Amino acid sequence: MTADLNTLITRYVRDIPDYPQPGVVFKDITPLLAHPSGLATVVDALVEPLQGKGIDLVAGLEARGFIFGAPAAVRLGAGFVPLRKAGKLPSRTLSQSYDLEYGTSTVEMHADAVAPGSRVLIVDDVLATGGTGRAAVDLIRRAGGTVVEFSVLLELGFLKGREKLADVELRSLATV
Ligand code: PRP
Repeated sequence: MTADLNTLITRYVRDIPDYPQPGVVFKDITPLLAHPSGLATVVDALVEPLQGKGIDLVAGLEARGFIFGAPAAVRLGAGFVPLRKAGKLPSRTLSQSYDLEYGTSTVEMHADAVAPGSRVLIVDDVLATGGTGRAAVDLIRRAGGTVVEFSVLLELGFLKGREKLADVELRSLATV
């Protein structure tokens, strides 16, 4: 099962060189989504160890974390919380900024989205430098939530994002 999953992800997530800027190799999940059992296989793997673990909320990171996080929430009988880029959410937000290679970016969440004591699973497609994931974890904790796990499809191990998340249960379905 694990080998098949790793093969599916590494085969159907394709590299796009120099996107969105020169020198960056973008990990494109659209071939995996187009595979007839790709999404189902990934969602199965995401939720399998978390069934019965009392997950109240799944927080998905814009944009591709929404695609995997929402069906995971359905499967876990949990609610879904979108973690969005700055300026996209209509009500009062909590914001968390983080460093990119050049400059900074910001993740936001509705201030009332996570009740104190909620048990939260965070989902994204790729862990690269770890800045996005770190900001997501900090947002959930600022709201009083407990981050049960941060799950990603694909971890780019050479970028060492895991080091920024040493205090978090981090699970990647595949690593390159
Ligand atoms: C990508 C990816 C993660 C993040 C990982 O999102 O989907 O959210 O980068 O990078 P990091 O570990 O270095 O922070 P992107 O910023 O491309 O946003 P998008 O999904 O809205 O296109």
